[in-house]
Amino acid sequence: MLAGMDIRGSSGQGGSGPGAITPDGSPVELYVDAGAHGDDEVIAAAIPTYAEILELGCGTGRITRPLTARGHQVVAVDESPDMLAHVTTAGTVCSSIEDLRLDRRFDVVLMMSFLINAPDDAVRRRLLATCTHDVRADGVVVLQRHDRASFAEPRVLEREDHRLEIADVEHLPGDVDAATMTHTVAGRTWSQRVVVQNFTDEQLEALLAEAGLGKVDYLTPDHTWLTAQLL
Ligand SMILES: C[S@@+](CC[C@H](N)C(=O)[O-])C[C@H]1O[C@@H](n2cnc3c(N)ncnc32)[C@H](O)[C@@H]1O
Repeated sequence: MLAGMDIRGSSGQGGSGPGAITPDGSPVELYVDAGAHGDDEVIAAAIPTYAEILELGCGTGRITRPLTARGHQVVAVDESPDMLAHVTTAGTVCSSIEDLRLDRRFDVVLMMSFLINAPDDAVRRRLLATCTHDVRADGVVVLQRHDRASFAEPRVLEREDHRLEIADVEHLPGDVDAATMTHTVAGRTWSQRVVVQNFTDEQLEALLAEAGLGKVDYLTPDHTWLTAQLL
């Protein structure tokens, strides 16, 4: 669908701003002090107590920390050593998710931050193949998907001292959206270009089924958080 377009396979297309920037454009220093904002609560409510978790795309450990504080043992994976340097409460693996093949399985595989909305079909399949490879037969995959409403139009969101501007919104063929997200916190500004493949619930469930996942359970009213299990 994206043949001929200069778009990378992953959702993050690159970024700029102070400090280290990951290959997908995520600003490390933006995430160092970022709070969990309830994401850990959504996850914890959907998984067994003390479940062993493989967290894919963990960043600086924003969610790793509260999950380990709840008694979960977490193995945290990211392709960015700059991000992983901040993860202190879990074992870490520096790897692309697509190439990750561990010799153990987990009760829970967690892949949040809209990685499932990668605009490239092949990349999405490889991300999901890692999820299914690394989850126990009776385990659960926890996913966070992009909310199409958030890129519907340019806008500004403000929370405490954090300003997020969503600009340069493009609605591309094939239900793909692009936008530039500019965060300003305490006078420092980072921008990241993001391209996402939107899905209806039916499309997402078909994608999961193709990867061998089903029994989908939506965790939030907006259907952005969900669990799936091996079929
Ligand atoms: C936007 S940050 C979010 C980090 C964390 N999930 C959070 O919510 O705080 C996305 C992270 O995913 C990582 N990432 C993106 N694509 C990846 C891939 N294909 N393999 C490994 N890491 C990836 C980036 O390096 C970055 O640290």
